[in-house]
Amino acid sequence: MTNHSLPDESPEYEPAAASSPVPVGLQLAFFALGFLALIYLDSQAGGFNGKVYEPFDSYEVVQEVQPQLNVDPRFEQGRLAYMTYCFACHQADGGGLAGSYPPLAESDWVNDENPERMLRVIMNGLTGPITVNGEAWNVSAQMPAFGMAISDNEELAALVTFVRGQKEWGNEASEVTAEEVEAVRNETMARGMTPWTEEALREAMEP
Ligand code: HEC
Repeated sequence: MTNHSLPDESPEYEPAAASSPVPVGLQLAFFALGFLALIYLDSQAGGFNGKVYEPFDSYEVVQEVQPQLNVDPRFEQGRLAYMTYCFACHQADGGGLAGSYPPLAESDWVNDENPERMLRVIMNGLTGPITVNGEAWNVSAQMPAFGMAISDNEELAALVTFVRGQKEWGNEASEVTAEEVEAVRNETMARGMTPWTEEALREAMEP
């Protein structure tokens, strides 16, 4: 004969509330799972950087896939200096103002292989009749001296490099270094704010 009733169904066992602990093996298994989940999260969260998104897992990779703006910081420094010191007269497009300010765009003063004449003009200013691209300019305004205002050779080099290299204006002359600026600065220091004339420049630059 078989007894079909389970022990606690038998009248001798009253049902009672009792706590039975989660087996240690299961506890360890959950702990290990949680730990592995954290390791996984850490490896997939892109360093918890809000700018990192799927399917990329680091900021470096995200950066690499962004379209590059292709800006040269030195060129931008030069542009900023131009907009600070020169733009009021020579205009944003470098075209100057007919009858008042000669153009820097495609100017033979600017695009000269040797930047010295242009640097001297910036250091001490320029006055009197001049010829730009074979055209005579005889304006009442004069070009002010900027040697004092732009005392940082790096900044002035960046400015001149920007003006000479601004392809949108049709300029494609070589870059200018801070050393070149310094050399011209030293040579023209004594002249101070006395503007050059075309004639005086020619004499000063004779070999
Ligand atoms: C206040 C107005 C004014 C400002 C600002 C000015 N210039 Fe000029 N610039 C002139 C005038 C006027 C002339 C022509 C002078 C002459 O005819 O003797 C000139 C001439 C020149 C020339 C030679 C002629 C040519 O067309 O290439 C260059 C190069 C030049 N400027 C560069 C600059 C640069 C670079 C800056 C900024 C650092 C600057 N200028 C700021 C008024 C200005």
